[in-house]
Amino acid sequence: MDYFKIARDIKEKIDIVDIVSFYVKDLKKRGKNYIALCPFHSEKTPSFTVSREKQIFYCFGCNNGGDVISFVSKIENISKIQALKKLASMAGIFIDNIKLEEENPYEKERKLIKQINMEAALIYNSMLKSSEAKKAIEFLKEKGIKEQSILNFMLGYAPSYENFLYNSLSKKYPKDILIKTSLFSTSFGKLTDVFRDRIIIPIRNISGDIVGFGARTVGNENPKYLNTQENQIFIKRRNLFGLFNSLTQIRKERKAIIVEGYFDVILMHQYLFTITLSTMGTAFSQEHAHILKNYVDEIILMFDSDKAGINAAIKAADISIEEGLYPKVIVLEEGIDPDELLITKGPDAMLNLINNALDIISFKINLIKKKNTELSPDKKNKAVEFICDTIAKERNEVIRMEWIKNVSKEFSVDESIIKKIVLQKTKSKNISIQKNQITLIKPEISIIEENLIEMLFKNPSLAEILKNGFEISYLESEFSKKIVSFFIGLKDTLNLEEKLISQYPDYENEILRLILKSQNINDETVTPENFKKTLLIIEKNYLEKEIKKIKEKNISSLEELKKYNELILKLKNINLSI
Ligand code: GTP
Ligand code: MN
Repeated sequence: MDYFKIARDIKEKIDIVDIVSFYVKDLKKRGKNYIALCPFHSEKTPSFTVSREKQIFYCFGCNNGGDVISFVSKIENISKIQALKKLASMAGIFIDNIKLEEENPYEKERKLIKQINMEAALIYNSMLKSSEAKKAIEFLKEKGIKEQSILNFMLGYAPSYENFLYNSLSKKYPKDILIKTSLFSTSFGKLTDVFRDRIIIPIRNISGDIVGFGARTVGNENPKYLNTQENQIFIKRRNLFGLFNSLTQIRKERKAIIVEGYFDVILMHQYLFTITLSTMGTAFSQEHAHILKNYVDEIILMFDSDKAGINAAIKAADISIEEGLYPKVIVLEEGIDPDELLITKGPDAMLNLINNALDIISFKINLIKKKNTELSPDKKNKAVEFICDTIAKERNEVIRMEWIKNVSKEFSVDESIIKKIVLQKTKSKNISIQKNQITLIKPEISIIEENLIEMLFKNPSLAEILKNGFEISYLESEFSKKIVSFFIGLKDTLNLEEKLISQYPDYENEILRLILKSQNINDETVTPENFKKTLLIIEKNYLEKEIKKIKEKNISSLEELKKYNELILKLKNINLSI
């Protein structure tokens, strides 16, 4: 018996409406569905919806959703397997513990990608010993990176020829799975290595699996860094470089240092600041903070002193506060990265900086005081507002009060006034995160593409029409591309929603939202004719966009002119048939 089989049995015996009403008061029937105030975020009007027909829940306010198992797992803060066990025992279903851990096919695929990544990392690592890696070794030496750090971070080197990795891996793995690792790019059906003549930095998730790579040029090529493209296992806003290496220590110290670059992390660890991690060159996200909250109480943001660095630090601090972390900030000397500081000034200078890190409010106060010796009333007003923006995000009363006192003293403004400003901001901010739940990010999707998907949910057999000349590239959003491709490849509609969600677990919430929305569309409007019309409009939008693109950069070759004329002709034909 696998997970999905048990889940189906549970859903046959237990009604999600009964389970939800056990946890959520005042579940009210509205049309086909039930609604209530959402238990996952605070709200005044109900956007939390439960569907008896589909046996799912979804909140239109915070985008949380799932089946009865996800509901129990989310509300009780337990794993899905634990929730499954709990519900199974309620339903009187016997579970064989050992077999339960068996995975679904998509989980197997993710595992295989991680395995290939690990092999690739080892191959790249062994290449550091080759004669081609001379420049790379020199670069690492110049950076001050020791043999031990190369081992700890499994650094490697990708040689310059285009099929190096492909030739080593293609004997063992089929092409379609190799494509899914994002280690190769395809052109005309041929696979070539993405990373060439670069130092390879494997990125590991919390369990130590390699989920992606950073790759730095050894010379001066642009871009300086290439990262693995995001895929089903590599999601930048959810991974932190160095987390695996620092896990033991951050748990012990209950704090972490966030720096900006890969090599900063590596050198910090080399000098035994083993609580250091970084993002993958992207902004510090709510998800990052949420993950760290499991291990630490305090984070120290070590950023560049330029305007971008300071703004990034403030943003990261605000996000951290919302997740219940206590942020401190260290601003480095202009143009000196942590790795350079360690090499030129030594670990004592670094330790000194860390010990003198300011909490975010003192940091903001200093920032203003450094710029202005005296504050005019309106400047003082702006400064107080600027600081209170951050205080308003803090939900711990003691910390809030201490910060309010501090600001009151520094700017000689009555405590009661500061308190009032903070309170106003707290109210208007509508802090929607409760119980450490993340407001999930919704993919951008246009109304017409949303309609298309809703029609497919309502009547999956419409997918047949997609096979007559419609191209996935006509669609704008990545999300729509994936969902529509799924429908095209669908062989039978049994457990359709379950198949879709287990293939794209990251889109679970968005999928549920559209399933619920699709229930409200009128059956009579979901006809092949309307579906075809929708496809034509999408194609039309696509053609217009392409034509505009060509026009903007001017036609410079015969080939482009031909393409342009083709597009214009197609567009004309479509306009005639809509
Ligand atoms: P070094 O010159 O090797 O010390 O680089 P650095 O790590 O100090 O890089 P920098 O401070 O310029 O950038 C910090 C981080 O931003 C890097 O570690 C990367 O994650 C990211 N980054 C920098 N340049 C690029 C780039 O060209 N492309 C991408 N995708 N990311 C970059
Ligand atoms: Mn650097």
